[in-house]
Amino acid sequence: MNVMTPSMLDQRAYSDAAKQFLSRAPRLFINNEFVSSSHDATIAVEDPSSGREIARIVDASDADVNRAVAAARRAFDDGRWSGLPPMVRDRTINRLADLLEAHADEFAELEAIDNGKPKGMAAAVDIPGAVSQLRFMAGWSAKVAGETTQPYTIPNGTVFSYTVKEPVGVCAQIVPWNFPLLMACLKIAPALAAGCTLVLKPAEQTSLTALRLADLIVEAGFPAGVINIITGNGHTAGDRMVKHPDVDKVAFTGSTEIGKLINRNATATLKRVTLELGGKSPVVVMPDVDVAEAAPGAAGAIFFNAGQVCVAGSRLYAHRSVFDQLLEGIAATAPFWAPRPSLDPEAHMGAIVSKEQHDKVLGYIEAGKRDGASVVMGGDAPSSNGGYFVNPTVLVNVNPQMSVVREEIFGPVVVAQRFDDLDEVAKAANDTCFGLGAGIWTKDVSTMHKLAAKIKSGTVWGNCHAVIDTALPFGGYKESGLGREQGRAGIEAYLETKTVIIKM
Ligand code: NAI
Ligand code: MG
Repeated sequence: MNVMTPSMLDQRAYSDAAKQFLSRAPRLFINNEFVSSSHDATIAVEDPSSGREIARIVDASDADVNRAVAAARRAFDDGRWSGLPPMVRDRTINRLADLLEAHADEFAELEAIDNGKPKGMAAAVDIPGAVSQLRFMAGWSAKVAGETTQPYTIPNGTVFSYTVKEPVGVCAQIVPWNFPLLMACLKIAPALAAGCTLVLKPAEQTSLTALRLADLIVEAGFPAGVINIITGNGHTAGDRMVKHPDVDKVAFTGSTEIGKLINRNATATLKRVTLELGGKSPVVVMPDVDVAEAAPGAAGAIFFNAGQVCVAGSRLYAHRSVFDQLLEGIAATAPFWAPRPSLDPEAHMGAIVSKEQHDKVLGYIEAGKRDGASVVMGGDAPSSNGGYFVNPTVLVNVNPQMSVVREEIFGPVVVAQRFDDLDEVAKAANDTCFGLGAGIWTKDVSTMHKLAAKIKSGTVWGNCHAVIDTALPFGGYKESGLGREQGRAGIEAYLETKTVIIKM
């Protein structure tokens, strides 16, 4: 007899708040109102833990994008935001942070059912991260300032010269699906503090938390048109945003391929561009480490968020003397990282965001095997009722020519290699077109500093990985990006400098 039993990998029931939100009609957020699209095109929203469609969102038309940009343009040009006392901007942004905190549990659930990540991870990382982006940047509202400067070639007292910092204008902000709300807040916070207005486009796979944020934007008291939220596909709505003549700046996080395309498209009107792109970040483990610490560290570097992290430690270089021990230690973390549905309170790793991404990750594993790599952990998908799960995977016997070593997989897959000395591993770590992050594990301070200096990447971590803080600049060397976000550099990216010289 065939008895239907719930699979261990079945998604749990949603809360009433989530169900109510999911029952809303597809709408865009323009001028502080939820409005219909100019056409009927919509995109399915899936829960990656079940593969089921749970709602639909608007696939914005060119006319929708034009309407949103026009709203942002008007709101910028009449100074309804940039002209406010900086203290009011600071307090409004902080009010949004307060509201987000008050609704943290609901946002964590929505993120979990939209992205597939464990609700516990969203509650511990994504939501507080989004709040801290808003709070830290809010404080810059009143603290950006120009300088009074004595000219070099002009006699003293004959001119008065100073610089002022002005908001760059209307910003098009396009974010990916791996940390949807966190990325959205990371983008809007500095723009708002600087006095810019904006159109935000979340990824078509994960637009729910941005749409829910729109409610809080109205409640926080932002003037209409300052923040507009458009949902839709990248090659249509995103492309229109990037090419729109009334947009002054484009900020993008996503794939290197699309980042390069956006940079080219923004050139026509020389828009300001910041890009946070892909990575293939090395994790280097020196022979002196305590393997009991380094092994879970290296595992977390790749398995956190199912490897869907731009700085995922996807290339592991372990010194020959600790290689075997380290791999045993990583394999021992398998039960902890075993994929589970996102609303399972035991989950540390959830589902992959989409079927497309799930198949891409499994395709890389197959390509690795065909090229001669061996699987020492995972390497497959657990059987499930339609969820997009991939088991945490370690590949060995790899070489630098293989696609699994060269390309960003964006899944829970790490390639592990042995090395013998520092120069050799520095060279291997830098043998990539990317340069986003790198992890070094050692107790030797001078080794740490020597290697940190040799590695070409925007961030280097010592005895930890993927630690990101809103006060610390973040960005890529080489093909991992353009410019920096967060910290002082983050607000500067939304400011122009005007020099004023007055003859006295
Ligand atoms: P993607 O780069 O295509 O999408 C990211 C965002 O860009 C989305 O909001 C999308 O709608 C938008 N977009 C796409 N095409 C556009 C265009 N022509 N003009 C303007 N906006 C556009 O990334 P995708 O396709 O979701 O994932 C592909 C790969 O990219 C992943 O497998 C992963 O390797 C990498 N990726 C890297 C991320 C990172 O944080 N560095 C985040 C997401 C993906
Ligand atoms: Mg794409």
